[in-house]
Amino acid sequence: MIDIRENISMKTYHTFGMDITTRYFVEYDTVEDLRSLLISPVIKSNNFLQIGGGSNLLFTKDYPGVILHSKIKDISVQDNEDCVILKVGAGVVWDDFVAYAVSNNWYGVENLSYIPGEVGASAVQNVGAYGVEAKDLIERVYAIEVETGVETIFTNEECQYGYRSSIFKTQLKGQYIITYVEYRLGKTPNYKLEYGNLKSAVGETPTLQYVRDAIIDIRRQKLPDPSEIGSAGSFFINPVIDLDIFLPLKEKYPNIVSYQLPDNKVKLSAAWLIDNAGWHGKKVGGASVYHKQCLVLINENNATPADIIELADQIKKSVYDKYGVDIVPEVIYI
Ligand code: EPU
Repeated sequence: MIDIRENISMKTYHTFGMDITTRYFVEYDTVEDLRSLLISPVIKSNNFLQIGGGSNLLFTKDYPGVILHSKIKDISVQDNEDCVILKVGAGVVWDDFVAYAVSNNWYGVENLSYIPGEVGASAVQNVGAYGVEAKDLIERVYAIEVETGVETIFTNEECQYGYRSSIFKTQLKGQYIITYVEYRLGKTPNYKLEYGNLKSAVGETPTLQYVRDAIIDIRRQKLPDPSEIGSAGSFFINPVIDLDIFLPLKEKYPNIVSYQLPDNKVKLSAAWLIDNAGWHGKKVGGASVYHKQCLVLINENNATPADIIELADQIKKSVYDKYGVDIVPEVIYI
């Protein structure tokens, strides 16, 4: 199936929920359809952008080209003695995949419950939460090269994963479209409950479903539900700085939230920096800093893209002025 539509509102296709229009919106549900699209006039004569669940994007204005969206939704299961390898279509809704894994008693993705978005994007973005990242579980990534239509299968190592980063965001940006992601999940319990108060939230005798429920609960308490309040989750990435820059900051701000990393690096909580620079609940036009989690900017009241950009710029500047630390958006501006 190839579905080409013209002048479509993106309001329901991205989580910020702004009413911007794309010239073309194109969906496909097989690799073959994607291949034929890539050589079709509509793609050849326009700029195009592949999106997933649109949960990490800020459209800054109407999009003059083609927005492509995968509806490849099949999942195949290779059942091994000690693990399962799931080959999951890029268009599967991420949390449907997590729910499916949990209901089959396959371990690994439960901490990533309730993250918005789709499976294809999970492999680009290396989504992460509560001590687990997609890269810990990704086996291989299937992708089609835009220029040639040829399929390449990337091993985990070849994806060059880092914190919220992969080769698909850096060196190979825009060159491949992900069609399937292979996840390796365990068949025996291997819970990761070290993050925050997860252990006490799950209780003495964890099950996959308890962990999933606890994570959903924590996320609901802190993060806005995209179906109710427009946002793109964390707006900024937590900055990583050198230890010798961190030490004087720690002296000045003893409560600063930080995590020691290897190689004399320190990761700071961007939420803390923003909160302590006085941004809690602040607004610009219809955009505001979410009152339960300062890292999240929300479309509170018909925000325009300019409102969000202005709020983000002001926050970035004020954090830099106060701490000398540069915070960079995780959200991609289109
Ligand atoms: N904090 C504040 N003020 C706030 C919120 C938090 O000071 O308004 C402090 C708290 O002390 C808290 C610390 O910041 O302990 C860290 O907060 P949290 O546990 O919420 O994690 P985060 O670093 O802010 C990251 C991810 C989230 C993910 C959580 C949980 C990034 C950019 N964000 O947030 O991912 O859910 O950890 O693992 O790494 C997303 O990417 O959209 C996302 C929601």
